Amino acid sequence: MATHPELVSGEELERELGALLDVERFEPSAEFRERALLKDPAIYEEAERDPEAWWAKQAGELHWFRRWDRVLDDSNPPFYRWFTGGQLNVSYNCLDRHVEAGRGGRVAFHWRGEEGEEREITYAQLLEEVQRAANALKGLGVRPGDVVGIYLPMIPEVVVAMLACARIGAPHNVVFGGFSAEAVRERMEFSEAKVLITVDGAARKGRTTPVKDRVDEVMGDLTTLQRIVVVRSKGVPCGMRAGRDVYYDEIVEAAAAVCPPEPLDAEHPLYILYTSGSTAKPKGILHTTGGYLTGVAATHRYVFDLKPESDVYWCAADVGWVTGHSYIVYGPLANGATSVMWEGAPDYPNRGVWWENIERYHVSILYCAPTAIRACVKWGAEWPNGHDLSSLRLLGTVGEPINPKAWLWYHKVIGHERCPIVDTWWQTETGAIMITPLPGITATKPGSATQPFPGVKAEVYNERGEGVRDTQGLLVLRRPWPSMLRTLYKEQERFLAGYFERFGRETYLVGDAARLDEDGYFWVIGRVDDVVNVSGHRLSTAEVESAIVAHPEVAEAAVIGQHDEDTGQAIVAFVTLQGDLEGGESEREGIRATVAERIGKFARPKRIIWADDLPKTRSGKIMRRLLRDIAEGRELGDVTTLRDPVVMDQLEQRVKELQAQET
Ligand code: PRX
Repeated sequence: MATHPELVSGEELERELGALLDVERFEPSAEFRERALLKDPAIYEEAERDPEAWWAKQAGELHWFRRWDRVLDDSNPPFYRWFTGGQLNVSYNCLDRHVEAGRGGRVAFHWRGEEGEEREITYAQLLEEVQRAANALKGLGVRPGDVVGIYLPMIPEVVVAMLACARIGAPHNVVFGGFSAEAVRERMEFSEAKVLITVDGAARKGRTTPVKDRVDEVMGDLTTLQRIVVVRSKGVPCGMRAGRDVYYDEIVEAAAAVCPPEPLDAEHPLYILYTSGSTAKPKGILHTTGGYLTGVAATHRYVFDLKPESDVYWCAADVGWVTGHSYIVYGPLANGATSVMWEGAPDYPNRGVWWENIERYHVSILYCAPTAIRACVKWGAEWPNGHDLSSLRLLGTVGEPINPKAWLWYHKVIGHERCPIVDTWWQTETGAIMITPLPGITATKPGSATQPFPGVKAEVYNERGEGVRDTQGLLVLRRPWPSMLRTLYKEQERFLAGYFERFGRETYLVGDAARLDEDGYFWVIGRVDDVVNVSGHRLSTAEVESAIVAHPEVAEAAVIGQHDEDTGQAIVAFVTLQGDLEGGESEREGIRATVAERIGKFARPKRIIWADDLPKTRSGKIMRRLLRDIAEGRELGDVTTLRDPVVMDQLEQRVKELQAQET
């Protein structure tokens, strides 16, 4: 059924989008505003007058076993403590209290598998499964404070596992399913995880690949990891080591059905999530209980204008990234939402599957990444036009800047000009959305994440730490917020140096460049450090370099992020081979395979450029800035400090050759 046939013609659509490019602001419709949870801009002033009171009001929406004594302990910045003296349990807030209020029959997740299989999970069912899983973990010796690794695909058990950990106070360390087993091992080692919950195999675009056996290949000698729990998902046979490995279904079925939630201090660790920094070693972002849940529940409710009785919400991220933690699991469940959980990719079994899901489950709120939207633009409006999208009332984006053209396409082809778009800026570190429209209040400008959420104080600084407008500068957050990271796990010095040194201990350095316009709207431009963002996946150039040099034929490598129309940024590697080796296609494939093995397929370089030498200063430091200039085809910056300026000519030539081959 073509529900929007007038947009099928590409030319016509282009014309209409072109006309919209001139529209500077998009106001929420009167109808949307009227029904919105927040419609009065005075909310910003209320929060600004007394941020602690505002956050305390948000925390008051949760269930506390013991109310806090103090909202914010800021006596030792940046080691802020929120809701001190308070006790709560995240899984109780996400499950029990809804069931106790008579909402146990409400669907928590409409899960859909790649091949169309379906599972409908109510709050009551989820609570039962979580209690059993929590007891099963206890049975394996997991105690409050013990780290549990989770390496699972988008299946309901991943949510159960996270909530079971939260129930017993065991911080989880989820690793995105796209990471390789080696990356999992490293993260288990750094966090000293006691137990790892993984899966027999995972489905991706019609192919099932073994997971547990890959994990076994690398995990054998890690003595801190005592147990491996295996979810039988795809029926892939796998080896089980006696005394260490157990099947999830067996231990969960055997476990008692009741597991009382542990009352935990507000500052008890909820999870560690590794993300990329400027060095090869990932950073273990630590989030705690009370402040984190307050932040994600409040932002989820207000940014998505959630009406849990009637909305069907779908965050199309993977649970293994922070977006999944905050806006598939904790925010939506704390708010009693009904969500869709989709196992697969956006283009399998066909390019219309997202829109089919929206029609099938009557999704009213869709939250996804600009990369996915750009892919859909490329695939053509006929895919969404073939489905009834009239249930949608609000759209969101996250993870990278959205270019105005993709924004307008989303607005027109998906939102039918009816749905506000919330472009939400935040990070693994911030835990929750920080800069965002409030859909019933804010007039949006395509490409801008607009304004700080009530209570959040953001600014753009110049190099001297002065607030600037209308010019590019460094984004900073100038006031603590409840869901902020508390430290980097076991790396306190790195935490201080990375975020709270440049402008002092009370100003959080984001690591993004941004511009604040004359209306006070924020335009986030991208990273200023050696972090790249490929399809919303955060990677450090150093991490990729260290994977590339692990290849036996590689002598040296320098990696940069290059602007890419489809993926936001693409990874480009400049590589010097050992001795006189000549690089060709097979070496390129070898290097890509090494990166896939050490990090994951998503980190493979899009382009590999052979270099006899890399541009270095006299002290031997690689000048990535010059490599970025070459890759972007810009005038070269200052080359006078180079040890051997001639290398630049060769590299420029090689980049041109590669570009010529590609076109
Ligand atoms: O550069 C910003 C970009 O993604 C980075 C955070 O990545 P990560 O910790 O993986 O979290 C992604 C999901 C929250 C930021 O430093 N970023 C995130 N959202 C936006 C964005 N850039 C522009 N606009 C956004 N809405």
